[in-house]
Amino acid sequence: MPRKLAAASITGAVLAFLAASPALAVEDGVARGQAAYATACASCHANAARIAARSASRSPEELDAFLTTHYAEDEQDRADIIAYMLSL
Ligand code: HEC
Repeated sequence: MPRKLAAASITGAVLAFLAASPALAVEDGVARGQAAYATACASCHANAARIAARSASRSPEELDAFLTTHYAEDEQDRADIIAYMLSL
């Protein structure tokens, strides 16, 4: 799946990562998300597993909407960070 297509639809990207893509694509997203998290989030949320557990009640769509105005403006970064958080 081309990256631009994933960026076009955040929900589609997350669902595709989770459901449809080959395992390798999921691992790519998770690895990118881990790096993006380290850059954008870790300064305040050092413990990624803890923040992921605290947001576990949110759907990926809700988390995406929240992060749009919470330090992750870039759609691809959000998709990757969400994939990373869901992997924890
Ligand atoms: C400048 C500091 C800062 C940065 C950077 C930051 N956050 Fe936050 N975040 C906060 C604060 C403060 C809160 C609200 C208080 C709390 O829940 O600890 C919060 C809340 C959250 C919540 C809600 C937790 C809940 O209780 O539902 C999530 C999820 C979250 N942040 C994820 C992220 C992610 C992912 C990133 C990186 C894209 C990020 N944050 C970057 C400071 C930050």
